[in-house]
Formats: sequence, structure tokens, C-alpha cells
Amino acid sequence: MGQDWTNARLLAHSGDAYMKTGLAVYIFAITEDMKDARAFSSLDGDMLIIPQQGALDIQTELGNLLVRQNEIAVIPRGIRHRVTLPTGQARGYICELFQGHFRLPELGPIGSCSLANVRDFQIPVAAFDGTLQNGRACGNNRQWQIVSRFGGRLFSCTQGHTPFDVAAWNGTYYPYKYDLARFCVLGSALYDHPDPSLFTVLTAPSYREPGTGVVDFAIIPPRWNVMENTYWLPYYHRNTMTEFSGPIISNQDESCKWNQGLEFQPYGASVASAMACHGASNGEHIKAGDQATEPQKVGTEGFTIFLLETECPLSISDWAIQEFQVDGQTSGILHKTRPSL
Ligand SMILES: [Fe+2]
Repeated sequence: MGQDWTNARLLAHSGDAYMKTGLAVYIFAITEDMKDARAFSSLDGDMLIIPQQGALDIQTELGNLLVRQNEIAVIPRGIRHRVTLPTGQARGYICELFQGHFRLPELGPIGSCSLANVRDFQIPVAAFDGTLQNGRACGNNRQWQIVSRFGGRLFSCTQGHTPFDVAAWNGTYYPYKYDLARFCVLGSALYDHPDPSLFTVLTAPSYREPGTGVVDFAIIPPRWNVMENTYWLPYYHRNTMTEFSGPIISNQDESCKWNQGLEFQPYGASVASAMACHGASNGEHIKAGDQATEPQKVGTEGFTIFLLETECPLSISDWAIQEFQVDGQTSGILHKTRPSL
């Protein structure tokens, strides 16, 4: 049976949408356009959409967004939208933020630019679903079904007019997209390994204390590693943040082996709970110790690792525990080659 945008499944969550605290992480694996005259919105929070493979054509109340592989999109709470598939099936993750909004991180001593720059975010223009008749805008009105997520559950209602009836808009509450290839990576220029927070694309501050976030969305994209007689892998460590991570395919070439479904475990994701040990594997550690310490381009395999780092403890959903296998070796990776959504 086919799956559409409304069939995303909960992987993990923290807090409570009713109390507007915390977040949820969903996975989607969709094979079908949303049915005609059917729209969706989350009343629980802003949706950060992270495609892993495939493109999403998103018609929103405020205009259209074509979100390709290696791009992300944010749709604010309550903005109705309809998702279709311009290039076939698509899969990926959604981080649903129950409190506050995503924004760019403070750059501190970095200064005025780098990481994700404001100029690279793309915002839709109004796309009215209708026609001009004698100078009047007339919507393509018919019976629509509106599906809404509220408290993690889906509800639906019907209305006799199109939800995409905005002819023009201005304001500060809008959907947007960002091409991750435009991220200006910063790193050490001599030795040592900066904290992965340096790779933050978007953050949702919690304001509990300076520098803390409900969630930081970070990516580890292709970059130069500069090493001078130093060990360049992240230290094996524990930290107070909970880390949810997974791969997204950055190579958009259809002939790329990742896009052919080869040698890639597409639904692999991992959770490192607060104060749980994590880091490079023993094999990676040995390899890193043996390799020459000279500048090298890394992360060129055609996929990028993303991180959702949250100060909130994440609970894995019953569905995820039931459907996914736990690799009990050392990695704690939740994986399954195909989801049974
Ligand atoms: Fe960590």
C-alpha cells in the first residue's frame, strides 16, 4: 500500500506538544502524492524537513517550495501544505519543534557571516490557486480535506474552498528552504577538533541558560581537514546533549551508487542519549592513528551526516523499538533496510 506525506511515523520525542515544550522526530518514506484536494498541517510545531533521498514539491498557503536532496525546508506550525513527488518516492526525517522557532545561531567571534548565511534562505512568493475573472481573484473552490496533527494524533475536517487562497502576503511567519551545499563550513586551521556545534545550520534556543538549545540542527558536510601532528577524529566522549544523527544523500546524480540503493542502509539513524559514551569505532580510531597528518578533503563520499542535538532527553517511540533492530555490537545503531510503515 502506498504512503503519502500524512503517513510520517514518530521515531522519538521529548516534552509535550500540549505544553509547548520539547520536540519530536518523525521519519517519512513516501511513494505517493497527497491525494487531490487534501492538505496537511502540524498544529504541534514548526516542521524542519530533512530529505534523505528524493525531492518534495510542497505547495503551501504562502507559495511553493521545491525541496531537493541536500536541501531542507521549514514549515511553521499550522501552515497548510500539500506534498507531491516530482521525481518518485522520497524518504527523510522531520524534526517537529514544539516550542519557539528555528533561527540562525549566534555567530559570536565568527563575526558577520559564515555557516548558514541569511542570503541563501529561499522564501516562496504567493501562488494563488485560482484565476482572475473580471479583475477579481476567484479560487478553485471545491471540497477539500484538511488533515492536522494535534498532540501527535491526526484529525481531519473538510472545507468548501481551497486552502491555497493567498494572493499576496508579507510578514515574518513563512516557510522557507535552504540548500545545504551553501553552508560555509568552519573548522580548525591548525590542530584539535572543534565541537560539532560549529556545524550548526539552525538552532532553536531554549533560553534556559546562555547557549542552550531545544535543538541544534547541524550537518557534517564535505570539508577540508587540516591537521598538524594531531589526532583529528572527535574524542570518544559523553555529553549532556542527546544526539540523533542520520545520513542524507548529498550527491544528486542519479547514477551515484547511493541513489541506486547500493551499499547504503537508507534508514540507518543513531541516538546517543545524554551521558552515553559515543564516538569513533575502534577501527576508525586505529585508521586515524595511522594516517598521514596532512590537509585532506573529507566527507566526499556523496552523503552528509546530520545531527539533531537536543538538551531534551529523547524517548524512542514504541513503533521505533518494535520495528527497528538494535545493533547490539557497539554502535547502538537503529537500522532496518526497509520500513514497514
Ligand atoms: Fe557527542
